[in-house]
Parts: sequence; structure tokens; C-alpha cells
Amino acid sequence: MEASSTSWAVLVLAWLAIMLFLSKIAPFKHRHRQKSPPGPKPWPIIGNLNLLGSLPHQSLHKLSQQFGPVMQLKFGSFPVVVASSPEMAKQVLKTHDQIFASRPLNAAGKYTSFNFCNLLWAPYGPYLQQCRKICLSELLSSKRLESSEYIRFEERHDFVSRLCALSGKPVQVNDHLSRLNFSIMSRMVLGKKYFSESQLETSNMTFKQFREMFNEWMLLNSVLNIGDWIPWIEFLDLQGYVKRMRALAKKFDRFFDHVFDEHMASREGVEQFVPKDMVDFLLELADDPRVEVKLTYDQVKGLTQDLLVGGTDTSVVTMEWAMSELLKQPHLIIKAREELDRIIGKDRWVEEKDIAQLPYIDAIMKETMRKHPVAAMLPPHLALEDCDIAGYHISKGTRVVINTWSIGRDPSIWDAPEEFRPERFIEKAIDVKGQDFTLLPFGSGRRMCPGYSLGLRLTMATLANMIHGFEWKLSDNMKPEDLSMEEAYGLATTRKFPLVVVMKPRLPYHLY
Ligand code: HEM
Repeated sequence: MEASSTSWAVLVLAWLAIMLFLSKIAPFKHRHRQKSPPGPKPWPIIGNLNLLGSLPHQSLHKLSQQFGPVMQLKFGSFPVVVASSPEMAKQVLKTHDQIFASRPLNAAGKYTSFNFCNLLWAPYGPYLQQCRKICLSELLSSKRLESSEYIRFEERHDFVSRLCALSGKPVQVNDHLSRLNFSIMSRMVLGKKYFSESQLETSNMTFKQFREMFNEWMLLNSVLNIGDWIPWIEFLDLQGYVKRMRALAKKFDRFFDHVFDEHMASREGVEQFVPKDMVDFLLELADDPRVEVKLTYDQVKGLTQDLLVGGTDTSVVTMEWAMSELLKQPHLIIKAREELDRIIGKDRWVEEKDIAQLPYIDAIMKETMRKHPVAAMLPPHLALEDCDIAGYHISKGTRVVINTWSIGRDPSIWDAPEEFRPERFIEKAIDVKGQDFTLLPFGSGRRMCPGYSLGLRLTMATLANMIHGFEWKLSDNMKPEDLSMEEAYGLATTRKFPLVVVMKPRLPYHLY
């Protein structure tokens, strides 16, 4: 009896001790799990929106120097976590890849992208996964990129001929690069150029109108639309952006209807129709009952838009920055040209297959992507569940932004980060394909850019030919040190002032 009461007492005491211990650590554990990343105190209603200047990536970069590589702010009604170091980017894009694989819903995705039917704004799920598979294994596969190389070759030739005709005159570089890329992407995606080169030709749109339509899309997809962040005043459309988005949506709708009508007419009554371009392929898929998640016409429109948008401005912006940096340090052009003369020679143009033999051009490209990432901040990711990062709690619904601009300027990773030095990439195994978190021009993981391979071909081959084919100087005898390198914020971070140059051909005339 005594033995059993003693063991009861021991049991009760042990139980009490455990409860006491748990009561000591549980609140701590609870508090610890709930600790949010550090960040500035938010104001009512606007949160920290007041801290964003005209270049939000730079404002957030400055704040991260105060609060650290993972910080939490509030934009309007929503928590926003900003990751500004390779380790934090890895946590989001690799370790917790699935949790952060979605995007927040916004007005741009709804109105300008066929109700979230494009890849960029599609929420994570079977539709997104299927479309990424279609892009990676079909539309943008190496086989297809090889079979369409002749288009890029022909258009690049037209591009250098146009530049040659303007020899000695001031030229706004991005005008010509945009025309080149729109021509390439229109032919690859739509089968032909759906714009006329001049007012005289009969076509639905002039190049100027075509470009304006896409520029408006880029702008409206990067604006800070107050209604997205403070949903209870969304209906007021205070900045008038939603009105513009609706008007733009109608233009895109009419344009794609016209493109699809022509494509459907060309395959009518044709037995064993062989798709000639990406739209043919997607329309055939839309009619295929065996496809896992059936594609609607709006979804085909969304994907077509992705391909056209993704393939144009991204590489134009990168090439314009690369040329600007090179013109600031003309000895780098001489070094690149020495490589081109040695490996390619002066009697032909650079082709895509040559790129692997041009390590200095590759280094220029990487250095440009480090210092001027097209997406200074990756498009926002959305936390689908609660999760812990570096000991901080991130709650479901948080918007997560990776500041690649900040990572590219981190002095603990890059020696003299403000300097443009391609040499830092020579004989270094740093790639841009999402494996190395110090350099993420295309993102990484489940939302990584599906067009990176085409993007690299477009950018490197054109840049190499620009250097190979022309002598370049700044217009109006501007000195290299006077060339402004100010940025303008957008879905793609462009130069604030377009680059204007004067060039003259340097290869034999019959090549142009
Ligand atoms: C130099 C060229 C390019 C650069 C620097 C670039 C960069 C990027 C970046 C940073 C992202 C976001 C990744 C993320 O959220 O983590 C992205 C997404 C995307 N890119 Fe690119 N890109 C380029 C070329 C292209 C091309 C050629 C295409 C298609 C023809 C394309 C189509 C897309 C699409 C559809 C997405 C959305 C993917 C998703 O959200 O799942 N891009 N790109």
C-alpha cells in the first residue's frame, strides 16, 4: 500500500514537473514561432507604402541594410517579406519552393492577362504546371529553338543592315532592338509579323501601335495599383489604372481574335495539318480532348501574350544596359572584339552556335545581369501556407519579394560591386540558370523563367554581333563619364534615359 502511494506521489510529482517545464518552454516556443522578421513600423491603412520611392528596389535595398536580409513590411493591408541575400532567396525559391510557388491576385492579372490565364500571374496549380510543361518541353524546347534559329538569323541580318544604313547618325538603340525582338517573336509565335514596317503597308497595325500596346502592358503590370493593396477602396480606382487595363484588354482581345481567325482559316479542311508556329500548336492543343487540363481560347491568348511579352523587352533592356556599360569603358569593347576577331573572324557574323566559344561575351552578359537584373525584384511570390524562414514566422498570404538588385550589389559576395568588371566571371563556375543564388536574373525553382534559354540566345547573339559589326561611340561627343546610368522602375528595370549612339560598320560591306 505504502509502495503504491509512494509511486503515485512520484508519478504526480513527475507529471507536475513536466507540466511546469512545458508551461515554461511552451509560451517561449509559441512566441518564438510567431516572431515575424524585423521591419519598420507600419502606419494604419497605408502600412509602409510611404517608404517606397520611385525606385522601390532601391528603397527596399536601403531598408534591408537597416533591418537585415529578411525583413517584413506592410503594404496597405498585406504583409510583404523582402529577401535580400542569396541564403534567404534560396529559402524561398528552393527550400520552401512549393509553399511560395503562387502569385498574389492583382488587377493586372485579372484585366490585362485574360483573368490570370498567362503564366506570369497564374496561381499555382494544375493549369500553371501544365502550361509550364508545354513551354519547357514543347514551345521553348532546345529542338524548337534550333529549328527556329533561321528566323533569328534572318531578323538579326535585317537589324544590322538597318543600323548600317544609319551609319554616322545618332540612333536610339532600344528602338532598333525592340523592332528586332518583336519581329523575331512575332514570327516564332504568330508565324509572321503582325505589324507593318511603315504607314504605307496594309496591315492591322503599324510597328509603333504594336509596340505601344506592349509598352502599355508592361507599364500596367508594374504599377503600384492602390486597389491591389487596400482592397476595400479598390472600387474607386483612384489612379485610373483599372480603366486603362480594361481598355488595353479589349485591344489584346481584338488582336488575338484576328490572329486566331487567320490561323484557324489556314488549317480548315487540311488533313494532317502540321503546326507552323506556336499559335498553331496551342490552337491544336485547345481542340485536343486528350489534354489533361483542357485549354480554353482565353488560355491560349494568355500563353501567346506570355511568349510575346517575355521574349521582347527582357533582352532589349539587358542589351541596352550592356552597351551602356561597355561605352563607359571602351577598353572592354576592344577586349571583346579581340575575342570575336580571333574566334569568328572578320568575314562572317556570330551565330548562336558560336556563343559557347565566346567566354568574354558570356562574362559581359553575366556582369550585366548582375548589375542590371531585368527584374530588379522578382515578381511577387505568395505564401500558400505558414512557414518559418531563418527562425522567423511567415504567415500564409504574405507576399514575398526577392531583391535581386540588392543581391547583385552585396559587397560580401562581390568585390567592388558598383564597378562593371566582366573579368570577375572569367573561369568562374557561376551560372544564370537558377542554381546559383548569388545571380538570379531568371529567378529559380517552380516559377523560374521558362524562356531563359531563348532569352540567352536572343541576348548573347545580338550583343556579340553589335560589338563585332560596328564601331560605337556616344552621340553629341558625350564623354563616357557623362553617360547617365539612372534607372526607371518597371516590370523590366530600364534606363531612365534611352541610350543614343553613333556607329559605323567595321566588317566588309557585303556582309550588311
Ligand atoms: C534576357 C531574357 C529574360 C530574362 C532576364 C527573364 C527574366 C524572368 C524573370 C526574373 C522571371 C520571374 C521568375 C520568378 O518569379 O521567380 C521570368 C518569368 C517568366 N518569363 Fe522570362 N526572362 C527572359 C526571357 C524570357 C523569354 C524569351 C520568355 C518567353 C518567350 C520568357 C517568359 C517568361 C514567363 C512566361 C515567365 C512567368 C513564369 C511563371 O510565373 O511561372 N522570358 N522571366
